[in-house]
Amino acid sequence: MQDSAVTRYPHLFAPLRLGAMQLRNRIAHASMTTRLARERRVTPELITYHVNRARGGAALIVTEPLSAARFQNLPHKVRVWDDGELEGLTRWAHAVESLDCRLLGQLQDAGRGRHERGRNPDAIGVSALPDDLSWTVPHVLSRADIRRMIADFGESSARLQRCGFSGVELSAAHGHLFHQFLSPWMNTREDEYGGDLEGRLRFLQELIREIRSSCGRGFLLGVKAPGDDGLPDSIGPSEAERIAGRLAATGEIDYFCFAQGSHSHTLDMHVPDLHGPRVPYRALTRQLKAAVRGVAVMAVGLITDPSEADALIASGTAELVGLGRPLLADPAWPIKAGAGRAADIRYCVSCNSCWGTIAEGRPLACDNNPRVARADEVDWRPQRAGSTRRVVVVGAGIAGMEAAWVAAARGHRVTVFGLSGEPGGKTRLLAHLPGGEALSSIYDYQMVAGRRAGVRLELGVRASAADVLALAPDAVVIATGSSMAWPRSLRREWQQSGAILDLRACVAELLRLRQPQGGTAVLYDLDGTEGTYWAAERLRALFDRVIVVTPRARIAEDVPLVQRLGIERRFARQRIEVLALSEPAQETRWEDGILVYRNVHSGDLAEIRDVMLFTYSGHRVPEDALVRELEPLVKTLYVIGDAYAPRGVMAATAQGHEVGLSV
Ligand SMILES: Cc1cc2nc3c(=O)[nH]c(=O)nc-3n(C[C@H](O)[C@H](O)[C@H](O)COP(=O)(O)O)c2cc1C
Repeated sequence: MQDSAVTRYPHLFAPLRLGAMQLRNRIAHASMTTRLARERRVTPELITYHVNRARGGAALIVTEPLSAARFQNLPHKVRVWDDGELEGLTRWAHAVESLDCRLLGQLQDAGRGRHERGRNPDAIGVSALPDDLSWTVPHVLSRADIRRMIADFGESSARLQRCGFSGVELSAAHGHLFHQFLSPWMNTREDEYGGDLEGRLRFLQELIREIRSSCGRGFLLGVKAPGDDGLPDSIGPSEAERIAGRLAATGEIDYFCFAQGSHSHTLDMHVPDLHGPRVPYRALTRQLKAAVRGVAVMAVGLITDPSEADALIASGTAELVGLGRPLLADPAWPIKAGAGRAADIRYCVSCNSCWGTIAEGRPLACDNNPRVARADEVDWRPQRAGSTRRVVVVGAGIAGMEAAWVAAARGHRVTVFGLSGEPGGKTRLLAHLPGGEALSSIYDYQMVAGRRAGVRLELGVRASAADVLALAPDAVVIATGSSMAWPRSLRREWQQSGAILDLRACVAELLRLRQPQGGTAVLYDLDGTEGTYWAAERLRALFDRVIVVTPRARIAEDVPLVQRLGIERRFARQRIEVLALSEPAQETRWEDGILVYRNVHSGDLAEIRDVMLFTYSGHRVPEDALVRELEPLVKTLYVIGDAYAPRGVMAATAQGHEVGLSV
């Protein structure tokens, strides 16, 4: 890899001296909570996840937060504050470090921050102020608590060092405890740990001194610092400059990583998606780099492409790039980039489903990587099947295409029938909506892999049972997707008139329109997934007013919190209105452009006037007619994706993947 890497992305693959350590390249795995630890212990899955990223070419990995102070005792975090897990920590460190990859433990506490519903009675904090999301008011740390905590963090760092870790990263970003000390908005203490910048920095500076005195200069010490937390009177870019400058002046820090957002309505800023620009924090990172006087900087935030990463290093914006979601999506990102195989990377689609899974307490998972933390994950190629079979896949959406390429790569002769002229199914429609474009890399990858494996595509064909049987298949995979059902709350005559289209049909029509239409568009939301809200934004570009009507108490309930925050913000900025706990009523008079809606609890009626367009995002029903026809005629029949039961992207790719491996 090395020679072509040097010529292709010379800056990204240049070695780096970081503190006392040598890094083989500039690619770091940014800290990601995995939910792979169990009962406070290191598990084989946790080690495999990190070994895979090291094997895939990362030069440095920051772990998820560890329980490093005595009051931290969550079962999904590895406990470091006593000697109980020394053996597991040593195995973890050795497994990663022996692959020429530096392993850094992350030290942090969420403080009052809580993503889950309800208050956290065990939370500790800087001041008796509520968490912006959960409204948890923490126990305020006394001076003695602070001293004990700093001593614990020092001892735990020394323990990590003894176990073979190369260093630690202090997470003072994302609105967590250390960030709470730094922020004038969150820290209202009147003792020496609050007040002016000096006071607010005291905690972090004492912590840094303690770790240095426990571990010495040879141990790496990085700080994930706030770059812009997005909150008024808190830490914007200029306060971030002052903080970083003061910390850099201690001479004790080996690198900074600047993260954005806070545990509040700005939380989503730390995991940006494609509703904003690519590499959104490039300019801010450059500005903060200037404040740290020669200390190395790890750029982070939606750096998905090797050339973007190389340019960040080449321009002097950063010495390292921190990749979180991109290395989750493809641990072999570095070796593929280095070998000139960038087209072969499974790219992060910035959907933040990963964030959703860990927030729900499930292990880290990815829409575009069905093999997270499996032993053979890195640059995976399926093993060849014992015998070659003829496989017919009906449906060229992401479930069908995943099954097709995997089966073909195993040596089967695979034909895919697709109704549309292009593969991708409904995901392709989503990719045409605002913010959805990255989703195309799911089916683009499947196309590239399918072509390489010899998949035969028959597109633009509504395959009949006879078409399938004509190929004398040994196995048939039905991946024909779903359609939207007519909502039961709407009158049947309205459906029969043919004037009301479901959201998918409506969007397909609207994508062709360029001119504003004027008037009001109403979207009846019985779906709750992101595509519906992206479509509302598309409608807003065409209509004077857009109103989303939902019988639920809020929109986007099924969307990860960080994505919901983005939707809510964009809706507010674009003035897209939401009528919650409401549904269209029979009294509606379309001929007058009047939609009458009722409150689902009280039955009270009200009107929306000047309605130019009404569409609905209904629940989905499987398109499975072929299943019934083929079931008696075919020996091996699989039904996957929405055709089996409606599901999201992650479940569709995962199911297609497993079926591709089973045929
Ligand atoms: C699922 C998930 C878990 C994360 N967990 C942590 C964490 O435990 N500690 C932390 O400092 N950052 C965490 N982050 C933030 C990442 O380190 C990184 O700053 C962010 O994802 C932006 O980088 P990316 O665009 O390369 O993913 C997490 C991000 C995601 C998506």
